[in-house]
Amino acid sequence: MNRRDFMTWVGVGFLGSSLPVAIAACSPKSVSGQFEAVGAISELDASGQLLNETAAVGPVLVIRDPNNSDTLLAVNPVCPHAGCNVSWRADETYFACPCHGSKFEANGAVARGPAREPLGAYEVKLEANQILVAKV
Ligand code: FES
Repeated sequence: MNRRDFMTWVGVGFLGSSLPVAIAACSPKSVSGQFEAVGAISELDASGQLLNETAAVGPVLVIRDPNNSDTLLAVNPVCPHAGCNVSWRADETYFACPCHGSKFEANGAVARGPAREPLGAYEVKLEANQILVAKV
């Protein structure tokens, strides 16, 4: 084996051993079951809803359960109809989509179309005043 062949084999070996590390580094940070902080409970209580569009799990909208204010609910606010962001209407206890009028229950279930699919939901918990969410 000459020097050129040797260097080619070393290069191929380096690429082969580095590829899994490079792929892992480029993968999304969040994995199902891993909780991520998306904001403080004080932010939620100040406005009645907490929107975080940059979380690694995806866009998150957190509210207090209208049937039990000690419980938090977290949904993906992207409307499954055509992709607009819903917002929480605390006075009417539903998520409303501004684009075509779909409404969703606090748990994300469709209350009125044209959307046919529910909002995505996250696991949510509170730790040291931080709201943590995870993929279901
Ligand atoms: S995008 Fe929400 S109802 Fe159409």
